[in-house]
Amino acid sequence: MLEAASQAPPGERERKIEQCEAILKAYRRAGGSRVPAMGGAQERHEGKEESVKEGEEILEEIGLEKPQIPRVTFEDVAGLEDVKREILAKLIYPMRFRELSREYNVQFGGGMLLYGPPGTGKTFIAKAIANEANARFISVNPSALYSQWFGMFEKNITKLFRAAQLLAPSIIFFDEIDAIVPKREKSGSDAARRGVAQLLNEVGGIGSQKNRDIFILAATNNPWEIDEAMLRPGRFDIKIFVPPPDREARKKIFQLNLSKVKHLGPVDYDLLSAASEGYSGADIEFICKKAAQEAFLRAVKNGSPKPVETQDLLDVMRSIKPSIDSRLLERYKAYST
Ligand SMILES: Nc1ncnc2c1ncn2[C@@H]1O[C@H](COP(=O)(O)OP(=O)(O)OP(=O)(O)O)[C@@H](O)[C@H]1O
Ligand SMILES: [Mg+2]
Repeated sequence: MLEAASQAPPGERERKIEQCEAILKAYRRAGGSRVPAMGGAQERHEGKEESVKEGEEILEEIGLEKPQIPRVTFEDVAGLEDVKREILAKLIYPMRFRELSREYNVQFGGGMLLYGPPGTGKTFIAKAIANEANARFISVNPSALYSQWFGMFEKNITKLFRAAQLLAPSIIFFDEIDAIVPKREKSGSDAARRGVAQLLNEVGGIGSQKNRDIFILAATNNPWEIDEAMLRPGRFDIKIFVPPPDREARKKIFQLNLSKVKHLGPVDYDLLSAASEGYSGADIEFICKKAAQEAFLRAVKNGSPKPVETQDLLDVMRSIKPSIDSRLLERYKAYST
């Protein structure tokens, strides 16, 4: 099917490939395996097992987890429609429709920085991006680095990019990048500075031909703390603001997080979403978990289950402070202009 689709006339090709892809995705979700990747990546996956193994070994050596293709998809991400649209256009389609993007001279390279208030789903959406692009997700977070990379930053960065190449199509994700590459005056030693320079080099080289199947993503809630050299053209030149959830998105996040609670009473989602302005997705996840936890303890104590209701959720909500206020939002606004 895929072959037939790729030979369809240009006007129809994209739509047909999309259809194939929807079928493959459904198959993969249903537990199917060994489905080739899309858009010309097929041949690269075959006979590639050895390089994958080598890539995985390198990652293990530098203390990073074995990369997987994450299970979260764009459907699990509530709201953020503009963010998703931009990411589809700039990253996912060029990665999926590699041939076609070449035919239009649409390039992708360098990296994309997601920034915004805490708990708005930056890490979450990064995983969904890897799923949508059918790429292996190599996650680099500061805690892994601090414990294992001390004095070896420069060397390990080289190894990391080598592994990403062996594992391509892959996405290297630097979470909380402000802690990994802080402004130079704050990054203490010479060795740390050399490491940052090495990282800049590697990211700058990603646009080149041999690295076409690697994409660099980063996330932060303090974009103003990042070394500015990192944000120059050719490096992280796509910057995307991930805003707090709007009313509709909050409603969906409540629904998603309560969908697995069996003892659920009548829940007024409209009321909850209206009452939760300023609460992030992570806050809402916490509210749902805490309300369910308390209802569970009551059930244990009383020996009979009582459902989680709107009031239980409102009570928990009142007991915690929203993570996002207008002053914080002003700061992001000032940064992006
Ligand atoms: N838009 C959203 N849709 C669905 N779930 C969300 C959304 N935003 C946040 N969440 C929930 O909140 C959790 C925490 O979000 P995540 O860790 O991605 O936030 P973050 O933006 O990376 O925060 P931080 O800046 O603190 O690292 C997610 O695992 C998810 O369950
Ligand atoms: Mg995060």
